[in-house]
Amino acid sequence: MIGRLLTRLIDAQGGWTKPLGDAVHGVLHPLFQRFPALRDLLNGRWLGHPLHPASTDIPIGILLLVTVFDVLGQPEAARVSLVVGLLAMSASALSGFADFADTDGRARVRGTLHATVMVVALFGYLVSLVLRLGAASSPAAAWLAGLAFLVVVFGAYVGGDVVYVLGNMVSRHAFRGAGTKWIALEPAELEADGSIPVGRPIRAKLGINGLVLVNDGTRILALHDTCAHAGGPLPDGRLVDGQIECPWHASRFEMATGHVRRGPSVYDQPAYEVRAREGGGWEARRTPAAG
Ligand code: FES
Repeated sequence: MIGRLLTRLIDAQGGWTKPLGDAVHGVLHPLFQRFPALRDLLNGRWLGHPLHPASTDIPIGILLLVTVFDVLGQPEAARVSLVVGLLAMSASALSGFADFADTDGRARVRGTLHATVMVVALFGYLVSLVLRLGAASSPAAAWLAGLAFLVVVFGAYVGGDVVYVLGNMVSRHAFRGAGTKWIALEPAELEADGSIPVGRPIRAKLGINGLVLVNDGTRILALHDTCAHAGGPLPDGRLVDGQIECPWHASRFEMATGHVRRGPSVYDQPAYEVRAREGGGWEARRTPAAG
């Protein structure tokens, strides 16, 4: 099967993609940490959807046009498409770098291959553009653009792998049911008087789900304990202005609503309602979806 063959080929690159990826990550992670608003913009938090996979369609479509116009003998249209495609490719790369800055493990290794392949394609397209400057038409430039497009297709395949096979930037709650039945809540810690400790995150069990609870002194707030971004343990995070900050990549979610307030997560966190149970203790349910 072609997929298995390509996976073997991709995994065989780990000898150089891992150290290269770690080195690039070592630069990008602290850089984007310093500019959270820029990172949120590039991640797509404002959109509620990862920006990079959406933005990549634009340069791929335009760069395909370069070859279409070359084949049709329209060198001027091919040249304009190439310039626009290169600009779109560069803009899309920025959103990819923002995602990469908070990517770990195998996804980082494959993401490095994806980015490297795209840089090779970008270089090929740049040389193709140079060959076209000052020439009415250039068969070499057209062939080079065609080859570069094949490289782009392979790079897109690897990028798709990072999402569809490794689940990078996929919501960790994508397959969670939305059942809203009240279930007994079991906090992992209680004060001597049986109350939930105030002002700090507490672990709790709700059936098969783990929650993070915060007693703000007036009510018990609860979110799912697994960060939507990449599965970080929210009970190990810290509270900042009513938000829980993930200990892995510092996404922040409002404890009262689950709304994401800072990336790299672009997804909200499942929120739960908590109430006192008749006869003592607590029960909770997933907050019903609005509307
Ligand atoms: S796992 Fe990445 S921010 Fe929580």
